[in-house]
Amino acid sequence: MSERDVAVFVGSLRKASLNRKLAHALAELAPPELKHSIIEIGQLPLYDQDLDENPPEAWRALRERVKAADAVLFVTPEYNRSVPGGLKNALDVGSRPYGQSAWNEKPGAVISASPGAIGGFGANHHLRQMLTYLNVPTMPQPEAYVGGADKLFDESGKLVNESTRKFLQSFMQAFAGWIAMYNNAKARA
Ligand code: FNR
Repeated sequence: MSERDVAVFVGSLRKASLNRKLAHALAELAPPELKHSIIEIGQLPLYDQDLDENPPEAWRALRERVKAADAVLFVTPEYNRSVPGGLKNALDVGSRPYGQSAWNEKPGAVISASPGAIGGFGANHHLRQMLTYLNVPTMPQPEAYVGGADKLFDESGKLVNESTRKFLQSFMQAFAGWIAMYNNAKARA
């Protein structure tokens, strides 16, 4: 099975982020052909169309990194029933200049996590709406809304909940299948 370069976007910028811990757990539980790397988005200047005549280096780097990836994985908290602004900014930066979106045709998956019971459902679906527009074929199932996320990790950040571990493993297995299916379909088209 050929290796797949998965660019991972974590919606939270804070050091102790539960979503960042979850992203690390997902990388460990993924099938070996998926090679994850977290793309940092905290230092990206806010998108301003005026700057795109001579884009900031951080924008160029993000666009190139996304273009080089085989797939994209979003691991995000919910802020006020939507995605955090930093993640929206990264999506906007990657989507421009017009007609040159880096996101186009990158198979993707979304997982949201919150200490709350509904696991970031609102953020998950707002993100899915944007990904539809950006032509990111996003894995429909399994859906992943990780609730009670503050109880899943020990002090070192290790995932300690066995049923969550099994679910995340099946999620990543399905994502590997989704990427392979998309690439096969593209090759046949
Ligand atoms: C939150 N939080 C939150 N949680 C939730 O389930 N739904 C929500 O709409 C919000 N809104 C919200 C807004 C803002 C500005 C903050 C800072 C937080 C709580 C949030 O889920 C919690 O802080 C998580 O721990 C954030 O994820 P990380 O940083 O741990 O990955």
